[in-house]
Amino acid sequence: MAKVLIADKMSPMAEEVFRARGLEVDVKVGMSPDELLACIDQYDGIAIRSATRLPAQAIAAASRLKVIGRAGIGVDNVDTPAASQKGIIVMNTPFGNAITTAELGVTLAMAAARHIPAATASTKAGKWEKSRFMGRELAGKTAGVIGLGNVGRLVAQRLAGLDMKVVAYDPFINKDRAISLGLEMVDKLEDLWPRVDLLTVHTPLNDHTRNLVDAKVVAQMKEGVILVNCARGGIYNEDALYDGLVSGKIYAAGLDVYVQEPAYSHKLFELDNVVATPHLGGSTKEAQTRVAIQIAEQISDYLVSGVVKNA
Ligand code: MLT
Repeated sequence: MAKVLIADKMSPMAEEVFRARGLEVDVKVGMSPDELLACIDQYDGIAIRSATRLPAQAIAAASRLKVIGRAGIGVDNVDTPAASQKGIIVMNTPFGNAITTAELGVTLAMAAARHIPAATASTKAGKWEKSRFMGRELAGKTAGVIGLGNVGRLVAQRLAGLDMKVVAYDPFINKDRAISLGLEMVDKLEDLWPRVDLLTVHTPLNDHTRNLVDAKVVAQMKEGVILVNCARGGIYNEDALYDGLVSGKIYAAGLDVYVQEPAYSHKLFELDNVVATPHLGGSTKEAQTRVAIQIAEQISDYLVSGVVKNA
């Protein structure tokens, strides 16, 4: 009987699905890298979220591993080249938490534009600082969306629903498809920077997207731009972001992701015009139930019948 490990905290539905499909399951959440190394050779499949890291060393020790399933989108915690070299399939659930992540992106944009966290702290502290928290309206302004994958597309639709003009950049999307979504596309990022009042990024972190927005880009942007990132830390250069927020060139930022995570402290957290959340992109009950069920079904399908989905 194939045996799977659930290595990160996820909905108990995952375990139920595995058992219903006749697989043996161990749930071992919060293992240290050494503990994982010591037991990884017992499993045919592993279900993870973002906490468990599977570097080359863990993959090398996984003598019977056939499939790694990420309940979520990003697989940056897995050494995917090392896995493919061993013939281990790495799959994710690209749709299960897209709506939830898109909703967070829009929430961060609105919270940043209206200083919601700082105003909440002030009001709860017994102050009544109406003039301190003068905000910005989004309607009628231009939003730039970089990356029109499952999340970016939903964010673009929602921003359009707030009466923003949405201009998008995605070198991989079919232009007709974008136009049918009612979006204006630009071919070059240089054309996007000076136009946007709000920028939100929805790409993976890779050599093309790391530091995509650096000091030179910030200099090309409108005075008072709002930046949002619920994709991956490092797409905005954090020093450039900090300098822009301090100078006022960037009005506010809504951030869910950071170069170093967990981020227990950060110079960006010292700024009132930063709305910061602890990588909550996929964290709603609905999304977590969906991704847990989906990844358990996908892993089971592969181990039981060899069916590959979302690899
Ligand atoms: C994802 O990659 O699925 C999101 O960043 C959310 C998460 O990590 O849980």
